[in-house]
Amino acid sequence: MRILITGANGQLGQDLQKECERRRIECVASDYIASSDSADRQTRLTTNQLLHMDITDLRAVKEITDQTKPDAIINCAAYNAVDKAEEDWRNAFSVNAIGPRNLAVTANEFRIPLMHFSTDYVFDGKKGSPYFVWDEPKPLSKYGQSKLYGEQLVSLFSNLCFVVRLSWVFGAGNTNFVKKVLEWSNDKEELKVVDDQISSPSYTVDLSGAIIDLLQTGAYGSYHMTNTGYCRRYEWAKYVLELTGWKGRIIPVKSTEFNTPAERPGFSAMDSFPLKKTIGYELPDWKDATKRFLKYLAEVKNEISD
Ligand SMILES: NC(=O)c1ccc[n+]([C@@H]2O[C@H](COP(=O)([O-])OP(=O)(O)OC[C@H]3O[C@@H](n4cnc5c(N)ncnc54)[C@H](OP(=O)(O)O)[C@@H]3O)[C@@H](O)[C@H]2O)c1
Repeated sequence: MRILITGANGQLGQDLQKECERRRIECVASDYIASSDSADRQTRLTTNQLLHMDITDLRAVKEITDQTKPDAIINCAAYNAVDKAEEDWRNAFSVNAIGPRNLAVTANEFRIPLMHFSTDYVFDGKKGSPYFVWDEPKPLSKYGQSKLYGEQLVSLFSNLCFVVRLSWVFGAGNTNFVKKVLEWSNDKEELKVVDDQISSPSYTVDLSGAIIDLLQTGAYGSYHMTNTGYCRRYEWAKYVLELTGWKGRIIPVKSTEFNTPAERPGFSAMDSFPLKKTIGYELPDWKDATKRFLKYLAEVKNEISD
């Protein structure tokens, strides 16, 4: 099996490549990087490096799919800057909706499955209990709207698609909440963290295993995939800082204190039914996942200082 991964340089993309390697699944890793020269693209292809592919460019998506002949596409590319998207919404919609549409059109043309990811931010967070896949989305932000439109276009244009909603993703690669908490605590004795946003932290290592398992079932449709359990952002930060032995003070505050451009849902935890029924297991608890991620970060730090 050969999988074309888009946004392969991101958090999920990086761990997904490792998961494929572990399972001896061939993967073609692509991301939005500087060079779009097609000769260079061909060189990268033959040297097995990261390919340049901008998912908003339909011609490039078709060309690369034709060149690499994957058995499936997994789309990890996204515009995740939630606050920036309020102003920069055209770019957010291009990457989160038009790009996935291009992938869906292409996957359909080549008759291969597409796995696409969305977010808990498609919900308004007012339900008060975990959301099911069939609950009505009602995004509060431009980011949430762009991801919802992406879901709709993927389902419209691809016959063989998985739409998998994730929440509070953390892992190697770009920045994430855990890394931010560690950075903030570095030079502060007091930290304010919101306690009115509740969801499920999700570790890319655990997601990657479940993503490949789900892909292999061929059971197309919509899913919610997160680590098990949910918490307040404040609780998550507190747990991270307890594990690192930080001696400062952490203070719970309301979201309104930060006055961010984008509104976030209050309670956006999601129920994993029917994922558990489909792959046969639940992902590990979010605390266990956080602990393993901190261990990983410590190992990387030691390797660098050795
Ligand atoms: N992060 C979260 O907390 C979170 C929460 C819920 C759902 N999700 C969803 O989970 C999935 C994986 O998220 P993640 O955190 O792994 O994302 P990420 O780390 O932000 O990675 C996204 C990757 O896509 C690339 N990209 C951006 N525009 C592109 C384009 N036009 N063509 C190709 N690649 C492009 C980015 O490159 P640059 O870095 O150069 O822009 C980056 O390497 C996404 O669908 C995301 O929306 C994430």
